[in-house]
Amino acid sequence: MEDIKPIMFKVTVDGVEVEVAPGTTIMQAARKIGPEVAPPAMCYYEPLKGTGGKCRACLVKVAAGSAKDPRPMPKLVASCITPVQDGMIVENFTSPQVVEARKAVVEFLLLNHPLDCPVCDQAGECHLQDFSYENGVGTTRYEEERRTFEKEDIGPYIQLHMTRCVLCYRCVYTADQLTDGRVHGVMGRGDHAEISTYIGRAIDNDFSGNVIDVCPVGALTDKTYRFKNRVWFSKPVDAHCDCEKCSGNVQLWYRGDEVIRVTARKNEWGEVKEFICNACRFEKKKTSDWVIEGPSKVKRASVISANKYAGNLIKKPDFALKLAESQYKKIDDTRPFVSEMSEIKKSEDYKTLMQQNENYFKK
Ligand code: SF4
Ligand code: FES
Repeated sequence: MEDIKPIMFKVTVDGVEVEVAPGTTIMQAARKIGPEVAPPAMCYYEPLKGTGGKCRACLVKVAAGSAKDPRPMPKLVASCITPVQDGMIVENFTSPQVVEARKAVVEFLLLNHPLDCPVCDQAGECHLQDFSYENGVGTTRYEEERRTFEKEDIGPYIQLHMTRCVLCYRCVYTADQLTDGRVHGVMGRGDHAEISTYIGRAIDNDFSGNVIDVCPVGALTDKTYRFKNRVWFSKPVDAHCDCEKCSGNVQLWYRGDEVIRVTARKNEWGEVKEFICNACRFEKKKTSDWVIEGPSKVKRASVISANKYAGNLIKKPDFALKLAESQYKKIDDTRPFVSEMSEIKKSEDYKTLMQQNENYFKK
């Protein structure tokens, strides 16, 4: 029998072509190519069905809709919920329009989000922090009063700080898809929308802790870990245990010899690989509870990797030194080093500079 080849669509993102199956979204196609072309995401979360379409962080330009109809799409589209067409050409980082629009999305997400990173437990692993560093501007045009909320205890292990929430709905999908009875959700609409538990009911089920891992900001935090440490001072280690409820594959976060936090392991997009149960997350805080596999791989660019490399790893490679030597002029300055102001004032250079200044202001 003749082999039937599956139909594949050719898509180009920022000049790089990739083949994907029909039904794939632009975001998934871009991720298949790699992080150099993949749009940022604040609400889309691949392991959770139905996520995406809430934050607009992933806007891209479709410069050609398909091979059959190569007209561009009239507006920027959310790449996480837009399926690809055969012959589609997408511009992400290469489009000045997208770069400009993303600045506005950052500004929008920061309208109500407090800039309390110095005291926020999520600092160093916050997606909004990364998103604004990479795509935002340092100013805002917002002049209205910002929304603020009291901190709320939702369940024995989780604290909600709604002021930081960006309404991505990830925690709602997590509760819907991992547990039997979701008791929290988004109440209200528009400027009044907020995450809360239904009539004060607490989130209390075996997998509730996963909402902490999926929250892109510091709105949902682990009460057993809050204010214990800055994440870049702790050392992540991969470990596993025999667990009846979940895979038991976790990441232990050490401060010295003490396990100060247990989380699920995440992939290169910052998404949980396997959700873990509350017993693993909150109750096994001793090294003897785990089989240690070794240090977790942390992206070199992440602040979490700071101070964790041995000296020989950060030594500048030979080729870089040679290149610097060949491309930069050697500074030939034999003048004596003088730091006394009275001495500096006597020098000819100083006098010339002062004269130039005077002439300039006279004009
Ligand atoms: S609490 Fe966190 S995960 Fe839930 S909607 Fe807000 S930002 Fe998203
Ligand atoms: S990641 Fe696409 S809209 Fe939020």
